[in-house]
Amino acid sequence: MSDQSKKQGIQANTSQNKTFSKMNKKSQKEIICFCNQIPKDEIVKAMQEGACTLNEIYDKTTAGVGPCGGSCRRKIAPLLEEFLKSKKL
Ligand code: FES
Repeated sequence: MSDQSKKQGIQANTSQNKTFSKMNKKSQKEIICFCNQIPKDEIVKAMQEGACTLNEIYDKTTAGVGPCGGSCRRKIAPLLEEFLKSKKL
């Protein structure tokens, strides 16, 4: 392998790493409630800190109580269900 092709390989690898890093950050900041810009990790954090009902999550994060009337609640409920199942295991 020539120095030129090694250099190109390293550049391509670095570029892929940057892309992966961006994707990772993006998925960490997956917005669940668009009205109040509440990301998934904030909802998960609320559950880890003791919110174990939908109303407690709404109160703690303001997700689900925006002007749209709570269209994101259908995404929050499965998160809570999954979290509660994992706690029972
Ligand atoms: S998207 Fe969550 S309340 Fe509107």
